[in-house]
Amino acid sequence: MASSLSGAAANRILPVASRARFSLSLSSASRSSLSLSSPSCPLSSAKCFRFSPFISHLSLNSQRRSMVNVSSRGFGTVAAALDLEQLKSAKDDIKEILKTQFCHPILVRLGWHDAGTYNKNIEEWPQRGGANGSLRFEVELKHGANAGLVNALKVIQPIKDKYSDVTYADLFQLASATAIEEAGGPKIPMKYGRVDVTVPEQCPEEGRLPAAGPPSPADHLREVFYRMGLNDKEVVALSGAHTLGRSRPERSGWGKPETKYTKDGPGAPGGQSWTVQWLKFDNSYFKDIKERKDENLLVLPTDAVLFEDPSFKVYAEKYAEDQEAFFKDYAEAHAKLSNLGAKFDPPEGIFLDGPKQAVPEKFVAAKYSSGKRELSDTMKQKIRAEYEAVGGSPDKPLQSNYFLNIMILIAALAFLSSLVMN
Ligand code: HEM
Repeated sequence: MASSLSGAAANRILPVASRARFSLSLSSASRSSLSLSSPSCPLSSAKCFRFSPFISHLSLNSQRRSMVNVSSRGFGTVAAALDLEQLKSAKDDIKEILKTQFCHPILVRLGWHDAGTYNKNIEEWPQRGGANGSLRFEVELKHGANAGLVNALKVIQPIKDKYSDVTYADLFQLASATAIEEAGGPKIPMKYGRVDVTVPEQCPEEGRLPAAGPPSPADHLREVFYRMGLNDKEVVALSGAHTLGRSRPERSGWGKPETKYTKDGPGAPGGQSWTVQWLKFDNSYFKDIKERKDENLLVLPTDAVLFEDPSFKVYAEKYAEDQEAFFKDYAEAHAKLSNLGAKFDPPEGIFLDGPKQAVPEKFVAAKYSSGKRELSDTMKQKIRAEYEAVGGSPDKPLQSNYFLNIMILIAALAFLSSLVMN
C-alpha cells in the first residue's frame, strides 16, 4: 500500500510498527518507488556514510530528509517527529546564544540573504535561488553583499553539527525568525523542512541582492523585490528589519565606524545603527527615518526612499504611526520571504507549533461522514492523506476533468442516437 502513496501521505498514514530498526527510503524524485536498506544499518546507507562537518557541504541531507523510518514504535511520523524535536532543541540553543552574543541582527541578515536571491522567473530548483542553504558556501559568502556574514555562519555551524537532520536552509530561517521574536518582534508563522543544496555549483550568481545606493533607489528596490515576487507593502515592511543592527564601513562601505550608540557594543563595538536601541525590534526605524533628527543614526538611500516614493510612503507613514500594523505586516512578509524558492520535504512543511496552527484548510467532517457519527481522527487523517496524494484536499473538490466529461457525453449521445436509428 505504502508504495502507492506520496512521501507526505505515507508519513501521515503508515501505522505504528516494530522496534527492529530499518528504513524505507522514498526517493523524492520518484516517491512511488520504495526500497529497503540493510537492517544492519540503522538508517539508510546515506545516513551511515557521514561526512566531516568541514566537507559537510556535500551533505546528504536532502536524501536523509525524505526517509520514512520504521522503528519499534512504528512506521510513520518518525522522520517528521525527529526533525521536530531537533528543530525545537535548535531553537532553544539559538535563544541561549542570543542571550550572550547579541547577534540578533546578523542572524536576521543571514536568513534574508539566503532567501533574497530568489528569482520567480526561474522555475527550476535550485537555479531559482532562495532559501536553500547555499549561503553556507564560500563562493556565495564572498559575494560583496554578504560581507561579514561568515560571522553568522560561525554561530550556526555548531548548531548544525549538533542537529544534523536540520538543514542549513532551515537553520538560517529558524535563527532569523527566533532573533526577531527574541528582540521583541512579532511571532512569525514559520514552516520548516527546507531542502539544502549540496554543492557550491548550485549557488546563485552574484548580484541578486539589492544595493544600498543605486542611482534610482525606488526603481532598484522594485526591480529586485518584484523579481522575488514581493510587493511595495512587503518592501517597506521588510525594510523595517533595519530597526535591528548596524552598518559597518569595513563590510558594506556604508555607515560610520562608530557612534555613541554603538561604541560600547553589546557584541563587537562599532558601526552605525538605524535606531537608538538597535537590539530591540519595534517601529522606531520608521519614526527615525521620517524625522532624521539624529545624525548618529543611519539612513541609506534605500531607506530614505521609503518616505519619498508615493506608494512606499503610504506604508512607511502607517508603520511609523502604528506599531501593531507594522508587526502584523512584518510577520507575514518575513514568513513569505523565508519560504522564497525553498523546496520543502515533506511538501507541506513541518510546523514547530503543531500542524493545526499552520494548516489553513479546515477539515469538514460532515461532508465525508455517511451517518450521524463523527469520523475518528485516524480516519480523517487517512482521507486527507488520500486526497493529498493525488494533489487535492478534503476541503476542496478535485478539479473535474472536463475533457473526459465531454467525451462521455458524446459517447452517450452517439449510443442513444444509434439506438434511435435502429
Ligand atoms: C531594501 C533593501 C536593503 C538594502 C539595500 C540593505 C542594505 C543593508 C546594508 C548596507 C547593511 C549593512 C551591512 C554591514 O555593513 O554589515 C544592512 C544590514 C542589515 N540588514 Fe539590510 N538591506 C536591505 C533589506 C533588508 C531586509 C529585507 C532585511 C531583513 C528582512 C534586512 C536586514 C538587515 C539587518 C538585520 C542588518 C544588520 C546586520 C548587522 O547588524 O550585522 N535588510 N542592510
